[in-house]
Amino acid sequence: MKNNELSKKNIKKNLENEFIARKIYYFSEIDSTNKYAAKLAKNGEKEGTLVIAEKQNQGKGRKNRLWHSPAGTGLWFSLILKPNIKVTESHFLTINASLAVYKALKNLGLNIDIKWPNDILYKNKKLCGILSEMSANTKKLNYAITGIGLNVNQKHFENDIKDKATSIYKIKKQEVSRLALLQNILVNFENYYKKFLNGEKDKLLDEWKSKIALLGKFINVKSDGKVYEGKAIDIAKDGRLMLLNKNNEIIKFWAGDASIKY
Ligand code: BTN
Repeated sequence: MKNNELSKKNIKKNLENEFIARKIYYFSEIDSTNKYAAKLAKNGEKEGTLVIAEKQNQGKGRKNRLWHSPAGTGLWFSLILKPNIKVTESHFLTINASLAVYKALKNLGLNIDIKWPNDILYKNKKLCGILSEMSANTKKLNYAITGIGLNVNQKHFENDIKDKATSIYKIKKQEVSRLALLQNILVNFENYYKKFLNGEKDKLLDEWKSKIALLGKFINVKSDGKVYEGKAIDIAKDGRLMLLNKNNEIIKFWAGDASIKY
């Protein structure tokens, strides 16, 4: 099992990335890898640095939710990114991450969907959540932390999430190597990120859109305490979901909880 366990040395082994995960901080337990990565980034840590933990006791989810991160079963990690981009382009960091995870999961033969804006689902249950957090001034991004939580070998979930969450183990009925999966995601991430830095944003957006289940469907979007209904017609270049309502108005959302009606 040793060769297969998550450790700095094993993660680096045969990983030919240029900058993603060239430097690694590994913890057996931490509050939140996003939180730690933000501290490092603020103190000048370089781009691409990976912070990973076996267990988080304050894993951060979206909307201040707690992200369940038990020991030894999932992948809980964050990447420090310092691209020279405008704040309005920062959603691409999440897009790159979801494409990287999507590709790695497809590689395992899983039939998954990307849920706008940042989840990966299997049959409507959450397999992976992504949380990008930024520090920016009015125009420019100082740094971003892209955090990925992927349920890999959990056999059970706690009561409060057991109807909403799933793991690769639950789908495939067998354990998979977290190490191999992580390395695959890190390689994919660097490839997508390089495309982004090369200006191939339209291509990335098209690839991402082609994997989003709710496009073309009638949906509900919960946003700012209200529920909006309509057809999900597109995702704009800035990452906003475009909803056509019954009055023929187009409403755009930066984020929200979307669910398919039919
Ligand atoms: C979501 O709510 O869907 C986003 C969940 C993101 C969880 C990951 S786990 C690794 C990283 N560190 C954190 O504290 N959160 C992210």
